Amino acid sequence: MRLTARPVAVREAVKLLRYAIAGFGNVGSALARHVHDRADRIARSYGLDVRLIGVCDRSGVLIDPSGLDGSEIARWRESGRPIGDHPGGPSSCEPEEFFAAGIDVLVVSLPTDRHTGMPGLKLARAAIGAGAHVVLADKGPALLALPELEREAATRGLTIGASATVGSSLPTLSFARRELAGAEIVEIAAVLNGTSNVILTGMRAEGKSFREALAEAQRAGIAEPDPSYDVEGWDTAVKLTILTRALMDERCRLDGVNPVGIDGLDPEIVERARVTKGRVRLVGRSIREDDGVRMTVAPEVVGAEDAFYLVEGPRKAVRFRTDDLGDLVVSGGASGRRDVAAALLRDMLASVACSSPSNAATGDRRRDR
Ligand code: HSE
Repeated sequence: MRLTARPVAVREAVKLLRYAIAGFGNVGSALARHVHDRADRIARSYGLDVRLIGVCDRSGVLIDPSGLDGSEIARWRESGRPIGDHPGGPSSCEPEEFFAAGIDVLVVSLPTDRHTGMPGLKLARAAIGAGAHVVLADKGPALLALPELEREAATRGLTIGASATVGSSLPTLSFARRELAGAEIVEIAAVLNGTSNVILTGMRAEGKSFREALAEAQRAGIAEPDPSYDVEGWDTAVKLTILTRALMDERCRLDGVNPVGIDGLDPEIVERARVTKGRVRLVGRSIREDDGVRMTVAPEVVGAEDAFYLVEGPRKAVRFRTDDLGDLVVSGGASGRRDVAAALLRDMLASVACSSPSNAATGDRRRDR
């Protein structure tokens, strides 16, 4: 199988960034298309030829060391056909095959179990062992083991990208680590679930029913396959736990959160919002207390003076309260397929930026193996 002609600028790019996607569902195919469509821009801006070397789903693994056509393989997936049926000829069902082909970055986008993190966690560890950076779209490995994976990766000069697990295009982890360095975070409060916010906005601003507004989030491809995960507050709880473990206290666990979602919204909250001219938001909150960090997820009424008031529809926001740097709010990035793909690309490019000139992008690590 092969590549359509690459634009001249790409052929002239001096460094190769070879990546593979494990788990080729909506997110994986969106990333393949996103990178393909921006190849020219990436080459011009970064001097990088970002090349898709392999993809896999449950039906098989497709590898072409010279590069797959991201647009073609995304169309294949979007027409509902499994990788195992692709004429390029799947080589096996073992994603570990990617490492033999030599990749710089593995994007893990498998359906993952949030109780075990498997199979994504195992694959992420294997990628580090093989000398590849890891970019996680799966929340399972990030939820259970992000700090541990980061330590393992750092010993080998590698990075773990996790933007897509904690707000995607909304900078959360990277913002806190860079911009809050040296200060202590005493509270994180965040609107992190686009589906819930689309529903709350649609009900309030457009008079939609819960079901109609949920259907809108589903049409936009934002809601999870089982939307109860969104509306019961679990998606917010998972993202909050990943952030809290990475930024405040690694001992925090998802089972320490008892989320209250927006399904069966308490009429008292709706009435309070109406009377006070406030807006309801599903807020995840981690507060540092004397005996540890307390995490909650619950609907709250926010007034016009609150930064979350204008966070409407699929948009998100996070507020960090710190001891030395005051309160900082990041607002914007929305839920959506393009936003996730863009966040994954951002993490891939960041992994190259973190590498020394002699490693990933130039392929030296591969030769060392
Ligand atoms: N279902 C999530 C949301 C998107 O509604 O924000 C993936 O995190």
